[in-house]
Amino acid sequence: MQVKIFPDHEALSSAAADIIIQLIRIKPAALLCFASGETPRRTCELLVEKSINENVDFSKCSFAGLDEWVGIPPTNDGSCHYFFQHLVLDTLQPQNAFLFNAISGDMEGECAKMDQFILQHGPIDLMMVGIGMNGHIGFNEPGVSVGLRSHVIDLDPTTLAVGQKYFKKKAPIRQGITLGLSYLQQSGVVLLLANGEKKSTVIHEAVEGPVTPQFPASIIQTHANSIVMIDKPAASQLKNN
Ligand code: PGA
Repeated sequence: MQVKIFPDHEALSSAAADIIIQLIRIKPAALLCFASGETPRRTCELLVEKSINENVDFSKCSFAGLDEWVGIPPTNDGSCHYFFQHLVLDTLQPQNAFLFNAISGDMEGECAKMDQFILQHGPIDLMMVGIGMNGHIGFNEPGVSVGLRSHVIDLDPTTLAVGQKYFKKKAPIRQGITLGLSYLQQSGVVLLLANGEKKSTVIHEAVEGPVTPQFPASIIQTHANSIVMIDKPAASQLKNN
């Protein structure tokens, strides 16, 4: 694990976009997996901008969406599907993409489809993830088993409360569908992004706390090729910075 501290969110987002572009230049058929959310939004915007300006071709790569709110339709602009479709897929147009369909009524089937997609196009070359206020990655909530592949999970009270920020109207969220942490462990590179003072406690816990399923993001410490990309406010509680 490396920790890289940037002056602000813009700088870390730009650096993350550059790493993704560099990978695609070396390996055009890479499998990418991104999280949605406020943190990676700017990276996705810059990735699209830079890809157009620098003529980067994503047409051979594959893309998997990290997670989704069970029961929320893709037309809802708070859904992960909406985020991935509009911010990433519409412009980059990868050859293959799979996003969980959270209204299919068969969540086990969706998990199987995602696992099959990753088997076919993977392993994942690069995952870009955020960190939740309870230390989750994707919807791998505190206490999750680290060996899981795709799965459905009851959301933790923190996620249920914080999650409403994505929705214009109160959303009936209860469960999430997500890639499990086994995929993070197997991913060639993991970028964990965080910005702002409000993330400083969870960043301290993830980077300098014990590695435990009670704090899923702490698994980042065990990955040989992970980069924790944070701004100064998010780094403010690190002892070794
Ligand atoms: P955020 O979400 O980027 O919107 O803060 C982080 C997360 O819950 O993974």
